[in-house]
Amino acid sequence: MPTLYLVAGARPNFMKIAPIVRALQGHATLRFKIIHTGQHYDREMNEVFFEELGIPQPDLFMGAGGGSHAQQTAKIMLAFEELCLQSRPDAVLVVGDVNSTLACSIVAKKLNIPVAHVEAGLRSGDMTMPEEINRLVTDSISDWFFATEPSAVQHLTREGKPAAAIHYVGHVMVDNVLYQAGQLARTDTAAFDTAAFKARHARYGVVTLHRPSNVDDAATMARLAGALRSIAADLPLIFPVHPRTRANLEKFGIDLGPQIELVGPQAYMPFLNLWKDAVVVLTDSGGLQEETTALGVPCLTLRENTERPVTVEEGSNVLVGTDPDAIVAAARQVLRGEGKQGVRPQLWDGRAAERIVAVLAEQLA
Ligand code: UD1
Repeated sequence: MPTLYLVAGARPNFMKIAPIVRALQGHATLRFKIIHTGQHYDREMNEVFFEELGIPQPDLFMGAGGGSHAQQTAKIMLAFEELCLQSRPDAVLVVGDVNSTLACSIVAKKLNIPVAHVEAGLRSGDMTMPEEINRLVTDSISDWFFATEPSAVQHLTREGKPAAAIHYVGHVMVDNVLYQAGQLARTDTAAFDTAAFKARHARYGVVTLHRPSNVDDAATMARLAGALRSIAADLPLIFPVHPRTRANLEKFGIDLGPQIELVGPQAYMPFLNLWKDAVVVLTDSGGLQEETTALGVPCLTLRENTERPVTVEEGSNVLVGTDPDAIVAAARQVLRGEGKQGVRPQLWDGRAAERIVAVLAEQLA
């Protein structure tokens, strides 16, 4: 039976492989192994997601986290090459656009192992964004492209990929959020650390920020913090802080004030429990733009561009940029009840993983 290696490394990968694992478990013609690069390694960035999302223990954990981009990518490449030489898979499936995606697709392709890229074809057009480089390189060598939105199909087509290799399947991230929202309805949320915050505030907003372009520069981070403090005067905010952001807030000495509750990185379910009922989500995350669209929660994206335009064209997302006045004005608009709810894009129906597995089963038969 053909064996597929599923690569996961960083937090946003775990939500994407969970539905693929479910679709592969007990499959009649495909076997799989889970390969964890260890790009993210803290318990709250890693293990908690495996537990909550029902992902089995990885078959291999590389422990290749930390360091610069080159160090991290190189460590993953060395470990993954050794693995593929020892026990060669029939195909490698990578998801998203993190360094683990890039590293493992290059290794596989150089060993003539075919590569399937889930979430292929997204383009921000911003070459200062590390993920854009990862997306371009991965797509330039992948064999099967699983696209989440129409813009991705257009980019891949324009870049000369054969139509037969491009599969518009919907989004595994949405499969996951719909599945987990169903699970959450049966979960005792009173046990979550953030239950007290939610009980105290009937109306609140949720913030996440971790992009290097927003949090690595002191002046930019300070401007964003000013906008958040203004919004928090009218609407309490809760901000689960990514380790990169936490380190920079401390380094730059930025105080977000008493109206913004800072908490550590959240596990999936407690975080879903917060944002699904938020008046507004303010974020620079890629995945959250899509998840808020899936559940119709107003989202303001604090970036100058998005590689996920369907969330703006059809969904509940507004690309507000990083100008503080624009951010505050957009938040006030939502508070006036003029937030966008949007519609769920085509095929964002919770069945993307099944479609992906069906294509791969046929291709690898
Ligand atoms: C990575 C992804 C980004 C994704 C984000 C989600 C790349 C290029 N970037 O960015 O696309 O949106 O994950 O979180 O792959 N750290 C810890 N503990 C951890 C993980 C990270 O303390 O478990 C700290 C380390 O200091 C590390 C830094 O955060 O060096 C950055 O981690 P890294 O994986 O390099 O990039 P992210 O900013 O997390």
